[in-house]
Amino acid sequence: MLPQSVLVFLSTIAVASARVASVSCTTTARSAVATTPTLPVNGGATELPSTNATLKHIAIGHGIQNYTCSAAGANATSAGALAVLYDLTSQYAALSSSAALALPGTVLTSTSLPLNLANPGAAGAADQSTQYAANTANPFPASVPPLTVRGALASPLPVLGHHYFDLALTPTFDLFTSSELLAGAKLADITAPATANKGIMGTGAVDWLQLGEKAGYTSVGLTVAYRVVTAGGVSLACTAAGQNISVPYAAQYWFYE
Ligand SMILES: *[C@@H]1O[C@H](CO)[C@@H](O)[C@H](O)[C@H]1NC(C)=O
Ligand SMILES: *[C@@H]1O[C@H](CO)[C@@H](O)[C@H](O)[C@H]1NC(C)=O
Ligand SMILES: *[C@@H]1O[C@H](CO)[C@@H](O)[C@H](O)[C@H]1NC(C)=O
Ligand SMILES: *[C@@H]1O[C@H](CO)[C@@H](O)[C@H](O)[C@H]1NC(C)=O
Repeated sequence: MLPQSVLVFLSTIAVASARVASVSCTTTARSAVATTPTLPVNGGATELPSTNATLKHIAIGHGIQNYTCSAAGANATSAGALAVLYDLTSQYAALSSSAALALPGTVLTSTSLPLNLANPGAAGAADQSTQYAANTANPFPASVPPLTVRGALASPLPVLGHHYFDLALTPTFDLFTSSELLAGAKLADITAPATANKGIMGTGAVDWLQLGEKAGYTSVGLTVAYRVVTAGGVSLACTAAGQNISVPYAAQYWFYE
């Protein structure tokens, strides 16, 4: 998916590196997180493994989890996800820990999905499974405004990049505003806390994850990502073979190198 944007992205790396080399002091100082925040803890029986890599970005992801069904009554199988990533890095430290934990649920329930939908206007339909399906040919709007969450954020969060899965179901994070990319592979997952926001369909919050670099793929500037503080995203029940289900979710994403 998105071969054109990846090609454009890759072709800009050489230029970007040359520019970074000439201003390395200021660039490094600005891109590193000043007082390193710590990854939220889950509070369950097991926590995600820690990392020694350096924190580069904290983001809010807002989008959909996609599933397919092999039969009525079967458990849905993940078919990827699509999300816009917003840059929370500079505002994270100003949030209280409870405000930071509440933010994905607030974004999910109070802001509109930043995707081009396949069936716009279908919200509220009796069959919920496809009302949030994305336009598969063109899922991301050309321009997404900064994320405003009144009462929760001092100022709007600018777009950091896109999260999608490629045809081989590689979870990909294209941080096009910082010319970084992680082609991910899941390293660990734990269930979300029982208190997590169950989402606008009430199905539950998807797992918390740690991802590393996928072997054989080229990642740039990122080696580890965590998906934590999830809200929503668990599938509806399968009612037919071949059924596709899209479920809105939001989460914090933490990116490291
Ligand atoms: C982090 O570094 C410490 C000290 O070098 C090492 O003992 C530990 O295994 C490392 N942890 C990870 C997750 O790489
Ligand atoms: C669905 O998943 C749950 C939890 O893993 C499992 O207990 C159950 O047997 C599965 N159901 C089907 C129909 O495979
Ligand atoms: C579901 O997500 C996948 C992976 O990002 C994407 O390729 C596909 O177009 C999406 N489908 C729908 C219906 O949203
Ligand atoms: C489900 O999605 C797949 C892949 O996009 C598509 O080929 C299929 O027609 C969809 N099924 C239904 C029932 O819409």
